[in-house]
Amino acid sequence: MNEELLRYEKLAGELAGMIAGGVLGHGDRLPSVRRLAKERRLSVSTVVQALRQLEDRGLVEARPQSGFFVRHAAARHAEPLARPTPEAPMPVDISQRLVRVLQAGMRPGVAPLAAALPASELLPLAALHRLYAGVARRHPALLASGSHVDINEPALVRQLVRRSLAWGGPLTADEFVITNSCTEALGLCLRAVTKPGDTVAVESPAYYLMLQLLETLGLKALEIPTDPRTGMSVEALELASRQGGIAACLIVSNGSNPLGCVMPDDRKRQLASLTAARGIAVIEDDIYGDLHLGNERPWPIKAFDQTGNVMLCASFSKSLTPSLRIGFVAAGRYRSAIALQKTLTSGATNPITQHVLAEYLELGAYERHLRGLRRAYGQQVEAMRQAIARHFPAATRITQPQAGYVLWVELPESIDTIRLYDRAIGENVAYVPGELFSPSGMYRNCLRLNCGNPHTPEIEDAVRRLGIIFAAP
Ligand SMILES: Cc1ncc(COP(=O)(O)O)c(C=O)c1O
Repeated sequence: MNEELLRYEKLAGELAGMIAGGVLGHGDRLPSVRRLAKERRLSVSTVVQALRQLEDRGLVEARPQSGFFVRHAAARHAEPLARPTPEAPMPVDISQRLVRVLQAGMRPGVAPLAAALPASELLPLAALHRLYAGVARRHPALLASGSHVDINEPALVRQLVRRSLAWGGPLTADEFVITNSCTEALGLCLRAVTKPGDTVAVESPAYYLMLQLLETLGLKALEIPTDPRTGMSVEALELASRQGGIAACLIVSNGSNPLGCVMPDDRKRQLASLTAARGIAVIEDDIYGDLHLGNERPWPIKAFDQTGNVMLCASFSKSLTPSLRIGFVAAGRYRSAIALQKTLTSGATNPITQHVLAEYLELGAYERHLRGLRRAYGQQVEAMRQAIARHFPAATRITQPQAGYVLWVELPESIDTIRLYDRAIGENVAYVPGELFSPSGMYRNCLRLNCGNPHTPEIEDAVRRLGIIFAAP
């Protein structure tokens, strides 16, 4: 047993040495398992164990049917670890700091590494312009239609139902409510299933706009530890909900913002049944589901929902353009409560834009566009990881997102990203300080970076300037 252990550790050490010494460079294919076994006179299982150890250390990656390859230097940076969170729910108070941070990040000349926005050149704007002109000409009556009750354009709902085949669906047309953006959808869901003072379980770290929604609705947030690979801990949610008292769970299961993790299906299934059993309404945000960086479009938690307890929200802000302001919720058994909230808050969503989107989806161009966009986001994320590895302090940890296009970066403990924010803005670089992703103010040594833009020399230089600030805080 010990000898076996020594053998695979020895082989792993030798291969690691070759990688460190540059004999095996990034992207190189390692000799096959069979060849290594034959040449080193080891059993196949010993070789596999050695390679798995290198994989766990982030030095190599397995590619299906192709073997093991040396990973990029940045990939060798450790990923952040899930952190323990406070046990009690707490009120949220981040809005004022958040607005200041985001406004400073939008100033002209500031490198766009804060808000998670895509570069306009990645978006199919010309096709959308043409469709706007065509729809306005062909459907003049739409301009005169205005309703607080008939919220959905059936043509768009038809397209969403078709798309829902890929979400483990299909969903039924009468579940949908079309909204002005994903943010509106999330707000409507929260209004429908909570009242001020209630507790909502959130990921930790959580997307700051979700926290802001809780703040404005007078809700308390309960941070649930979240693993940068596998998402919200279902075990922790189970423990936290034993005594009841959690009204809803707000979650981004595919491409969590900021961690980029995708929950494995079995965790999604567990979460769906736990929440159904404990009377916790699930508000799921699947805005990054179409922007997965792996081979398959991951299913949402909604795919495992047996009781209509999951409200699935999304929009086309990240995949087509944020200006459309079209989102939706597939609302399960909460549909009528959500439709009522929509009627009370904003009435129907712009019918022209709903038609434009319906026609765009009908054209069949969306899938092709998504393929190109996912490739671009994947490359941009990787280029940013490399740049961080080049310029940030050695002990920095970086996520390896499985969907979306933001990176979460953990710096050494002594670095306070909120305190250094003004210095970064002074250097014309923005980011979102980690503290704004937590109601209890965790993550002061973390930050989120947007990789929505092609990695130009200007972006590289912005990362370099940040590195200088973090090197001498
Ligand atoms: C997880 C998540 N949900 C919602 C939004 C906002 O979407 P929308 O512009 O449709 O409101 C964002 C934007 O960053 C996001 O990251």
